[in-house]
Amino acid sequence: MSSTKIGLGLAALGRPDYINIRPEAELNKSVEAFKTNALKVLDESYALGIRDFDVAPSYGLGEQFLQDWNDSRNHKNVNLSTKFGYTYVANWEIGFTGKHEIKEHSIDKLNEQWDVSKALLPNLKIYQIHSATLDSGVLKNDAVLSRLHELKEAHQLKIGISSSGTEQIKIINKARKIKFDGKDLFDSYQVTFNIFEQSTYSVLKELLAEGKTIIIKEALANGRIFKNDKFSAYKSSYQLLEELSKKYHVGTDAIAIRFIMDSLEPSVILSGASSSNQLQQNLKALNFKLNANDIEQLKSLAVNPENYWQERSNLSWN
Ligand SMILES: NC(=O)c1ccc[n+]([C@@H]2O[C@H](COP(=O)([O-])OP(=O)(O)OC[C@H]3O[C@@H](n4cnc5c(N)ncnc54)[C@H](OP(=O)(O)O)[C@@H]3O)[C@@H](O)[C@H]2O)c1
Repeated sequence: MSSTKIGLGLAALGRPDYINIRPEAELNKSVEAFKTNALKVLDESYALGIRDFDVAPSYGLGEQFLQDWNDSRNHKNVNLSTKFGYTYVANWEIGFTGKHEIKEHSIDKLNEQWDVSKALLPNLKIYQIHSATLDSGVLKNDAVLSRLHELKEAHQLKIGISSSGTEQIKIINKARKIKFDGKDLFDSYQVTFNIFEQSTYSVLKELLAEGKTIIIKEALANGRIFKNDKFSAYKSSYQLLEELSKKYHVGTDAIAIRFIMDSLEPSVILSGASSSNQLQQNLKALNFKLNANDIEQLKSLAVNPENYWQERSNLSWN
C-alpha cells in the first residue's frame, strides 16, 4: 500500500526527561524501569514488523539500551542508525534544569562517539551528523568529513545528516554538494516534516528522486498534533484532525503519520513512541490510505516555519 516504513526512534525511551507535552501520569523514572520499558518496546516493535531503529549518544542511555537489545536478540535483519555530535550531560538527574545535551561537531567528538557506537556494527547501517547546522561549521570541517568518508568505505555505511530549525533547506542543500571521488558523501537525510512544518517538501522529493534515504522525525510535532488548549493557533487544525480520526477510525497520530506517507512518501517515518500502547496507535497508519481531498486539507495546515521552530524551542523538558 506504501513503500514508506515506520521505524522507532529512542529519544523518549532512553532518558527520564524529554520535551513531553501532555501531563504525564506518575512514571517510574529509575534507570531499571526505563531499561525494562525500552527493551519491551523494542521487542514489541520487532514483533510488529519494525526493522529500523534510530538513536543518538545524547538520548541518555538509549544507545546502550539499543546495544544491549541488539547483542542479546541477535536479529540479523535490523537497520540501526545513530549519530555523533551531541553529548548527554543531565546524568539522569530528574528535573535537571540546565541544558540536557551539549553540541560539539569536532573531529575529537566524532572519534570519541564512534568508538562507542561502532559496537552496533554490523547492524549499524546509517551514521549521521546530529543536527548539522551552518553555524557549527561541520559541513566545511575537512577532518570530520574525511573521517566520515573513511568510515563509510570501511564499514559500508550510509552517511547521513539530521537537520532541525528554519534553515533545514539550506543545510540539506549544502550537504548535497559535498563529494569524495566525485560521489556524494551523504546518502541519508533525517528531517523534521509534519502537518505543521512542511517547508522541506520539494527538496525531499528531489532527494527521493535521486535515490537518497529520507527519514522523517518529529512526525507528530513532538505531540503538538494532539488536541491541546496550550496551542490555541491549532484550534481549527485539531477540528480537522478529529473529523479525519472519526472517519478512518484511528487516532490523530495515525492521521498525521499517514499524511506523510501519502504526500511525501519518504523511506522511513520514525515513531517517537514512549510506550507500547503509543507504538500500536502510531502503527495504525499502515492500515488505511487518505483520499486526495483529505491530503489537500491536511496540506493547508502548514504554518510559518519561523513560528513552528520558535514554538519548538519554547517546549520545556520534563
Ligand atoms: N535532531 C535530531 O536528530 C532529532 C530530533 C528529534 C527527534 N529525532 C528522532 O526522531 C524520533 C521521533 O521524534 P520525537 O519523538 O521527538 O517526535 P514525535 O514523534 O513527533 O513525538 C513523539 C511524542 O508524541 C507523543 N505520542 C506518540 N504517540 C502517541 C499517542 N498514540 N498518544 C499520545 N501521545 C503520543 C509522545 O509524547 P509523550 O512522551 O509526552 O507521551 C512521544 O514522546 C526520535 O525518537 C529520534 O529518533 C531526531
